[in-house]
Amino acid sequence: MGHPADLDRWTEVDGYIETVVLAPDPVLEESQAASRRAELPEIAVSPAQGALLHLLARTRGARRILEIGTLGGYSTIWLGRALPPDGSLVTIEADARHAEVAEANIARAGLEGIVDIRVGRALDVLPGLAADGAEFDLVFIDADKPSNADYFGWALRLTLPGSLIVVDNVVRDGTVVDADSSDDRVTGSRRVLETIGADPSVTATVVQTVGRKGYDGFAVAVVEDHRPGR
Ligand code: SAH
Ligand code: DHB
Ligand code: MG
Repeated sequence: MGHPADLDRWTEVDGYIETVVLAPDPVLEESQAASRRAELPEIAVSPAQGALLHLLARTRGARRILEIGTLGGYSTIWLGRALPPDGSLVTIEADARHAEVAEANIARAGLEGIVDIRVGRALDVLPGLAADGAEFDLVFIDADKPSNADYFGWALRLTLPGSLIVVDNVVRDGTVVDADSSDDRVTGSRRVLETIGADPSVTATVVQTVGRKGYDGFAVAVVEDHRPGR
C-alpha cells in the first residue's frame, strides 16, 4: 500500500480527475450508492479506470464485450455505454446477490437490452459460450484472481485477431514480484502474466496504477493474427 499519506494523495488526485476531467454522472453515482447500500465489497474499478475501459472499447469499435466478474455492474455500465445500440455485453457473476444488485444498476442505466448477466462460476459458464460460437471484441477479466490464467485461455478462444483482453489487479501493491508468495491471488497474477508474455498470439503490456483503490495495475493485450492451432 505504501505510506498511508500516499493513498490520501492518490485519492485526492482521483477526486480532482473526477471533478475536472470526467462528466458528472448521476446513473454511475447511484449505482455506486446502491452497491454500497447492499454492502457489496468496495472493489469496483474507480471512475477514472472505468472511463479507460470505456475508451478502450470505443477505440476498438467493440460490438461484443465479455466481462468476467460483474459485482454491482459498475464496470459493466462503463463498458456497456461504449457499445452501439445493437451491441452486446455478456457479464459473468458467481454471486447471485451481486448479480441482483447489478441487474438493477444496469436497468437504471438503460442497458438491460444490451447486457446479459450470466449467474454462475465463470469456469462453468465459459465453455457454454465457446460451444455457442460466441466471439468478443473485448474481454475484461476481473473475477477471482487465482483463475486468471484459465480465464485468459478462455478469452483467447473467444476472441479474434484485433480483440483486446484486459486483466485487472495484476500488480497488487507490488506483490506481483514476490516469486515465493503463498498468496494464490499473487501466484494467479504471476501465472497470467507469464502466460501472456510467453504467448506469441498476443502483444501486451502491464500498466501500474495508483489512485483511490491504492497501488495496482492492469494488463492489456491485443490478439494477433498469428494463432498457432487455429
Ligand atoms: N468488474 C467489477 C468488479 C468485480 S469484483 C467492477 O469493476 O465494477 C469481482 C467479482 O467476481 C465479485 O462480484 C465476485 O463475486 C465475482 N467472482 C468471484 N469468483 C468468481 C467466479 N469463479 N466466477 C464468476 N464470478 C466470480
Ligand atoms: C479485489 C478484487 C478486485 O477486482 C479489485 O479490483 C480490487 C480488489 C480483491 O479481491 O481484493
Ligand atoms: Mg478488479
